[in-house]
Amino acid sequence: MSKPTPDLMERIVSLCKRRGFVFQSSEIYGGINSCYDYGPLGAELKRNVKDAWWRAMVTQRDDVVGLDSAIIQHPEVWKSSGHVAGFSDLLIDCKKCKGRFREDHLGGTTCPDKEFKGRPAEQCRAEGLMTEPRAFNLMFETHAGPVKDSASVVYLRPETAQGIFTNFLNVVNSSRMAPPFGVAQIGKSFRNEITPGNFVFRTREFEQMEMEFFVPPAEGERWYEYWVNERFDWYVRNGVRPENLRKYVHPEKDLAHYSTGCTDVEYLYPFGWGELEGIAKRGDFDLSAHSKGSGKDLSFYDEATKERFVPHVVEPAAGCDRAAMTFLVDAYDEEVVTSEGGKEEVRTVLHFHPRIAPITVGIFPLVKKAGMPEKAKGIQAELQDLGLRTFYDQKGAIGRRYRRMDEVGTPYCVTIDGDSVEGDGTVTVRDRDSMAQDRVAPAEVGAFLREKMRAWKRG
Ligand code: GAP
Repeated sequence: MSKPTPDLMERIVSLCKRRGFVFQSSEIYGGINSCYDYGPLGAELKRNVKDAWWRAMVTQRDDVVGLDSAIIQHPEVWKSSGHVAGFSDLLIDCKKCKGRFREDHLGGTTCPDKEFKGRPAEQCRAEGLMTEPRAFNLMFETHAGPVKDSASVVYLRPETAQGIFTNFLNVVNSSRMAPPFGVAQIGKSFRNEITPGNFVFRTREFEQMEMEFFVPPAEGERWYEYWVNERFDWYVRNGVRPENLRKYVHPEKDLAHYSTGCTDVEYLYPFGWGELEGIAKRGDFDLSAHSKGSGKDLSFYDEATKERFVPHVVEPAAGCDRAAMTFLVDAYDEEVVTSEGGKEEVRTVLHFHPRIAPITVGIFPLVKKAGMPEKAKGIQAELQDLGLRTFYDQKGAIGRRYRRMDEVGTPYCVTIDGDSVEGDGTVTVRDRDSMAQDRVAPAEVGAFLREKMRAWKRG
């Protein structure tokens, strides 16, 4: 299946629920709009996405360090950053159907009213059925402490980025980093979105993976180009098909208040092209704004050149939930295969990169006797020691067990049969994508899998 189809999303959402990737939040109470919980496999998937990001952005570099800042920060942070005054969408209400719309999304929206169902929302607006647009701030507001008054107002952070800017001096002084260098952070962000939707694509609570890269002003353009390419390539290196990705350069009139240039990495979702990640040139907007707001000098003195400057920032900002959903959508396939009995059947398979797959190895004793479970448990313990996520299953026909692993994207299965116990001692390693089977000595299974994982390529 090379082309996404509109009902593909429904099939993926159904798979996510059936196999424990994503559940509607508070489902036993009827659910809550746009809030989702990640099940056992979804939690593993998200963890793998975050690990892959952290490895590429921090562990494998010596010019980026990590940070974990608080969700609730001083309210002045959001005044200086411009969020209190400007982090809003234009909201329009329909007086007839009582629908609530984002003005910038009106173009692609149809009326949900029974009478008008399917007609463009723009037509309702032209007929005077809609209110004038009004600005709606997306920050969730709450109160710190027992007294609910204007002095106790605080916000749930709408992006992780500001915690990085406010810690710029702390990081420079404690880590002795000098531009060009980056600070990376993964964490929850909250936005009171007017129109959340498309499953976990746009929700009110989500996780971001952001990195602020501080550079001497003259190097801004070079690093912007570098990070646009690097971030695009990261998705490809982790298994996303490049033909489903593109770079979208924002026209100047659409840039956010802090940005002097922005390129999105977009993905071709079943509902059309959508932003997966944004790479922005933020100039010196943030450090200058926080210098002014806090009264602290956030410039940098370069000992080598004896120059003082306010670093410019290049920011690759990704969504973890959106990335996890993208890996899922891109990995999803339905293939016609011939079963052992010669019958044609549809195999649902997730072609995850082994690094991203929630389970790396299924461990199957062919039958639950004759020493096979014991041998299988021994191999499982060794693979667990190597840090691989395994799943042990000794029930049902082996073909069914393989299919269940295909459906959740497990790249390898190890089967322990009679020969493993009484014959030459080898076990079968089955490959999810090619369905090829190799006989491997138990002591070599770990190294064999590691090599296969290293050499994995999307077919
Ligand atoms: N610091 C810059 C910033 O936050 P953004 O484009 O608003 O930029 C970055 O957000 C990324 O966070 C987006 O590309 C998207 O992947 C993710 N994201 C933003 N809003 C989201 C939402 N409501 N639900 C899920 N992910 C979201």
